[in-house]
Amino acid sequence: MSSPLKEEEEEEEEDAGRRQRMERYTSRSGYDGGRKGNLASEYHDSDFDWMELREEAEKILSSKEEGNHERERGGDDEKDGGIEKLGDQGKAWEKFHNKVNSTAKFFKEKRYILQEFPALLEENVLEVCEFGCGNGSTVIPILKGNPLARVTAMDFSESAVEHTRQAVEREGFESARCTVMTRDLSSGVVVEEEGGSGEEGKFDAVLMVFFLSAVPPPKMDKAIGNALHLLKPGGRVFFRDYGMFDLTQLRFPQDQKLGSKLYHRGDNTLSYFFTLEDLAAKFEGEGFETVETDYACVELYNRKKDFEMRRVFAHGVFRKPLR
Ligand SMILES: C[S@@+](CC[C@H](N)C(=O)[O-])C[C@H]1O[C@@H](n2cnc3c(N)ncnc32)[C@H](O)[C@@H]1O
Repeated sequence: MSSPLKEEEEEEEEDAGRRQRMERYTSRSGYDGGRKGNLASEYHDSDFDWMELREEAEKILSSKEEGNHERERGGDDEKDGGIEKLGDQGKAWEKFHNKVNSTAKFFKEKRYILQEFPALLEENVLEVCEFGCGNGSTVIPILKGNPLARVTAMDFSESAVEHTRQAVEREGFESARCTVMTRDLSSGVVVEEEGGSGEEGKFDAVLMVFFLSAVPPPKMDKAIGNALHLLKPGGRVFFRDYGMFDLTQLRFPQDQKLGSKLYHRGDNTLSYFFTLEDLAAKFEGEGFETVETDYACVELYNRKKDFEMRRVFAHGVFRKPLR
């Protein structure tokens, strides 16, 4: 696995499969796009059993380590061992977005987010903030799916922010419905630097889609703390990211391993694989309540290569306590 783009393509294949499954679900239940029913509990994919995969995956990972004693780098995920050598993460992502966004085909709406988190369509979810918005592929479906919502999209890459802005313009949304900001979400208290611009406690929802896995583990608490700061009491974080033993983890070369769950890609961007226990501990450690966590276990078939892929995604909803 060498680039986030490749991973995104596979995510897209997942999206297509997911749509088919949703269509099947729609015909059975008359699903209305999430406005009335609570689909979330039925929706999590379980094409295979995570515990069974775990057994197999642990063998694969340990056999990689056996053959690579000298190069083994699986240290403590929470320490900065090896991350510094990769250089500035902001620069690595900027380079990625510059390169990838110059190819228009990269932009694909992540519509499945509305199916995974039907709560984003609730009428009382009016202010949504996306952390690490990339090129806007999640912002657009939210603006389309919930006509009452306003979205504030943040990313530390200028190029990502610019591409999100362009995507919003291209779709013709009123500018008042979407604010796009360049922010490093893993350092200090975000937005406060603007002189307390009234963002604290403003949001009903914070979305983290393949964001936290890109943040160095020692800084994840800052990013989660920023979400807590920006949410209203009772506001929720909607989380989807790479799950432990995902195919992309098993494919990483051993010399790109930085910790038991942490890897770096060839372009020096980070990729972290969450267990549900780890995920809940990280959010609860910053003061959130866990509403739900689950592994979405999705089996995909690549017809061209006649190859089955087992993807694991970590799903979570976390609430800011009322007081
Ligand atoms: C894997 S991409 C996901 C993008 C988008 N959420 C999606 O699903 O298509 C991770 C994004 O997080 C951004 N990012 C990583 N660390 C960040 C930080 N500390 N502050 C703000 N954005 C960050 C990167 O620039 C990148 O756009």
